[in-house]
Amino acid sequence: MNLVFLGPLGAGKGTQAQLLQERERIPQISTGDMLRRAMTEGTELGRKAKAYVDRGELVPDDVMIGLIEERLQQPDTRRGFVLDGFPRTLGQAQALDRLLRNAGRSLDAVVYFRISDDTIIQRLSGRRVCRKAAHIFQVDTNPPRVPGRCDLDGSELFQREDDKEQTVRHRLDVYHRQTEPLVEFYRSRGILETIDAEADIDVVYERLREILSARVEPH
Ligand code: AP5
Repeated sequence: MNLVFLGPLGAGKGTQAQLLQERERIPQISTGDMLRRAMTEGTELGRKAKAYVDRGELVPDDVMIGLIEERLQQPDTRRGFVLDGFPRTLGQAQALDRLLRNAGRSLDAVVYFRISDDTIIQRLSGRRVCRKAAHIFQVDTNPPRVPGRCDLDGSELFQREDDKEQTVRHRLDVYHRQTEPLVEFYRSRGILETIDAEADIDVVYERLREILSARVEPH
């Protein structure tokens, strides 16, 4: 099950990838989480990425491609993966093709999370993420049982620096210019599946399961 989750910020890609990881044991590869971890740890990657991430810009392709190349070599990805947040440019999509082809692998499906800009802005203003493992909550639509604490590991919940409204609007603009063209790129290859990401979390997950059964399980 080699999947890409494609769609704008706040569409629910991370939420659904975490559910798939928990319930189906398909590893989530979130480039955003990898970058934020490196930033917290102050590694060379984190120092390089910080200026871009904080401004809502994309980190340069060569850095991201190197990161994914290394991650896809880890043994836990042999039975499948969900790429959450990669690729985000045509250059990254072409590099991913190359990396997979060289390893004798290919994508089973690219799931496109379709959602309006208005819903995104509303959702992200209330998003909270846990310090320990980046579990995702939303104060109105998906609240934690104890305010400010993660249901799964009890760690503190915080608001991402790039979820401030002005940065969200800039990230949306970057998405429409640089990432949205990938929808047509994958549609033309016949591997694009579209999900109505405005629906409730459980409904989106059900639809995802249907797509996986139809696309992946017959192989
Ligand atoms: P990244 O962390 O990947 O951010 P993103 O793609 O912008 O996606 P988000 O995490 O904002 O949203 P999501 O779709 O995962 O939504 P979520 O599930 O949290 O990237 C951050 C930055 O890193 C980038 O700006 C860039 O600088 C850099 N970067 C990362 N990858 C890169 C790459 N490949 N190339 C270059 N730079 C890169 O859900 C959102 C909220 O809604 C949550 O609060 C959730 O609880 C709630 N929610 C989810 N689903 C539903 C639902 N169905 N109904 C109601 N609420 C819901």
